[in-house]
Amino acid sequence: MFLGLDIGTSGVKAMLVDEAFATIAVAQAPLTVSRPHPGWSEQDPQDWIAACEAAIAEIAGAHGDALAKLQAIGLSGHMHGATLLDASDTPLRPCIMWNDGRSGQQCLDLETRADFRGIGGNIVMAGFTAPKLLWVAENEPEIFEKTAKVLLPKDFVRLWLTGEHVAEMSDAAGTLWLDVANRQWSDALLEATGLTREAMPALVEGSDVSGILRAELAETWGVPRVPVAGGGGDNAATACGMGVTAPGTGFLSLGTSGVLFAVTDRYAPNTDEAVHAFCHALPDVWHQMGVILSATDSLSWLSEISGRTPANLASLLPARIEAPSGLGFLPYLSGERTPHNNPDATGAYLGLRRVTQLPDLVQATMEGVSMAFADCVRALRLAGTEIEAAYAVGGGARSDQWLSIMAAITGLTLLKPVDGDFGAAFGAAKLAAACATGDISAAVFAPPNADREIAPDADLAAQYAPFHELYRKSYGDLAAWQSGR
Ligand code: XUL
Repeated sequence: MFLGLDIGTSGVKAMLVDEAFATIAVAQAPLTVSRPHPGWSEQDPQDWIAACEAAIAEIAGAHGDALAKLQAIGLSGHMHGATLLDASDTPLRPCIMWNDGRSGQQCLDLETRADFRGIGGNIVMAGFTAPKLLWVAENEPEIFEKTAKVLLPKDFVRLWLTGEHVAEMSDAAGTLWLDVANRQWSDALLEATGLTREAMPALVEGSDVSGILRAELAETWGVPRVPVAGGGGDNAATACGMGVTAPGTGFLSLGTSGVLFAVTDRYAPNTDEAVHAFCHALPDVWHQMGVILSATDSLSWLSEISGRTPANLASLLPARIEAPSGLGFLPYLSGERTPHNNPDATGAYLGLRRVTQLPDLVQATMEGVSMAFADCVRALRLAGTEIEAAYAVGGGARSDQWLSIMAAITGLTLLKPVDGDFGAAFGAAKLAAACATGDISAAVFAPPNADREIAPDADLAAQYAPFHELYRKSYGDLAAWQSGR
């Protein structure tokens, strides 16, 4: 038995699988995000532990016999979160999360201090960890002074599980302190942020052993003292769950944030279009990502202000989308990463009329998010990666209408895996298996069967093309709105 633990933005998911990777049990515990100021996004690290305890206790209660046969644990979590610990490993402040935009100025400053783009493979963007530490140094100096270790969210959970300070390559790359080509911490990038290796955890590959479960926890859950695998940042872990581990393969994730993920056989950055170039969670492979900040979160926002659930909103659309809504939607509700790298970008609907109804807004929202993905396809193409087909995952991929809009707008053929949960927790469980058995071959990281293929509809694609042009132009025209805020 292998246990995958995913620290997601909206909740922890624990997944127990057997040696054939069949799901034995899944338990979830919710998490909330606090937004104390516009553009801020924080979580209390202790809430992750409480949520993990609740989820594992649920599995131990209902599937104690299976859990007792546990062989390893794997971890995954939302990336980039700055978790600052004092010398006794106590969090000094809430974690500053991946979708927090407060450090725009610090990003500009860091770029002048060291070659973040060349060594770190990425533009310094507000979501990443390094500029957040500079923000803390400048705005909360007493906390920066006391900071003994900086951990990523899942690595704080690892500390609780094993007592060890360890990170793995895929998530470590998202700090911007990693020399991504050489898979080691960069003294130059750390120094630019006022830090040294002292503040960094040890590094392992995602399929390596990072520590052993503490005796106290093993006893509480009735399990052996199993190894804990390095695991992966949630995107790399999802890729491991989907069998996206070989160069040339990719996935498109329609979650809170949107991700277009492609595996590369080498370090291949394209900072001009704000492509992310990170290590993969397995040795000797890297990946590129286009990341948009408000994917299903755009629909969640519309759901909040309309008082209907996202599923209800999606059900307002006809079964088959025959034509564009005729509206424009810019999904930059939390700023944007790829391709704009603008934490202050704002969203908009365009072309509203007195007759516009809620279903039109729902379709326009799905179209705008799909256009943001089309921009990511273009950005990866400019980075030398041509993707024609990708697995579609995440909550938004449950909507067939959204997938047909997405295929028409992006030109991608989308593969829908057979029913099942192949997300980050599943990928973490696979990394647990790899660490217990030493097997990192395609036998472990096999893709799920895809039972549906959604190819771009040529007629719909032709209808959308002029709207995508307008969408791209509108971003520039709307820039004035952000400075007015
Ligand atoms: C990736 C990113 C997000 C988070 C969300 O760079 O910021 O996908 O990992 O979970």
